[in-house]
Amino acid sequence: MESMLPWMTEHYGNPSAGYHFGKEARRAIDTAREQVATLVNAPSPEEIVFTSGGTESNHLALASALSWLPSRSTFVSSTIEHSVIHEWLNTQAEKENLIWESVQVGESGQVDLHRWSELLAESATRFATLMWANNETGILPNIQEAAAIADSHGVYFHSDAVQAIGKISVDVQSLPLQSAAISGHKLHGPKGVGALWVNRHSRLHPVLLGGGQESNRRSGTENVAGIVGLGKAAEIALEHIVKQTKLQALRDHFESELLRQIAGLEVNGTAPNASRLPNTTNLYFPGVDGEGLLILLDQAGICCSPGSACSTGAPHRACSLRWATADRAPKAACVFPSATYRLRRK
Ligand SMILES: Cc1ncc(COP(=O)(O)O)c(C=O)c1O
Repeated sequence: MESMLPWMTEHYGNPSAGYHFGKEARRAIDTAREQVATLVNAPSPEEIVFTSGGTESNHLALASALSWLPSRSTFVSSTIEHSVIHEWLNTQAEKENLIWESVQVGESGQVDLHRWSELLAESATRFATLMWANNETGILPNIQEAAAIADSHGVYFHSDAVQAIGKISVDVQSLPLQSAAISGHKLHGPKGVGALWVNRHSRLHPVLLGGGQESNRRSGTENVAGIVGLGKAAEIALEHIVKQTKLQALRDHFESELLRQIAGLEVNGTAPNASRLPNTTNLYFPGVDGEGLLILLDQAGICCSPGSACSTGAPHRACSLRWATADRAPKAACVFPSATYRLRRK
């Protein structure tokens, strides 16, 4: 917030303006671009396009590809993608603009590589997307293998990396990847700002047209304060990633204590071969009404919500907690089918 405030008060220039305080704003955006690029190890800051958040970043990657790929290309996703990916693909499939195939994941959250390979080998398949980390269980799918298969067939590969970036080390050069979505508020940055990392060798067709900001890739006057905040959050996240083992140890201790004290409790996402984000826990309380549990936990100052499994037709099965950082009070986010509750332990 400290880094953002000056850009809402004394330095209120429009970064596209030629006068001096416009240029100051431009320089602040450039610094943020470098900070975000460093966090994901992008070869060049120019590969970062600032957006209004994870939803827009994913949307931009998908809509851009749709605009230049042959009509009715096949787009392949996994069944665990965030609704922004699913809703967009479903809408376009209904309009018959593309063919959408979704590949199942197993109990450990790993995508079925046999089916993935089969689909990507088809000549009509031009786009594949797999999230870097799942927003409900924290599971890290087999993105390296999925990306390698996409690469071997010359298929564009995008990742919704919103949940992973800032929590674990994400190196966009570590796998054959064309684009990745970033969201400010997932790494303690401001809400309503994000970025799309785009490989400089990949095409990106803008969705928002107008003033030609972001090198003609995303028009609209930049949210300078938000972008500066995202840059600062990226810088801080980079320092904190090394401390994630402490966070993971706290999460693991929390889970083992619950397992010891609550009969029948299960921790979701711990199947063999499953690796998880260090900050997320997703719990199954057998025979307990999730909504009632939420209310009681809320009254106790603990934020939690059932519904992680709602997408599999078993709502109110799980409670998902996301821990803020090792140094801060634990925070949890739990998702109802219709609402999200976020509270902080007092
Ligand atoms: C995996 C994933 N992708 C995309 C989004 C959307 O990001 P934003 O809220 O910044 O639009 C979220 C938000 O919860 C998410 O968890």
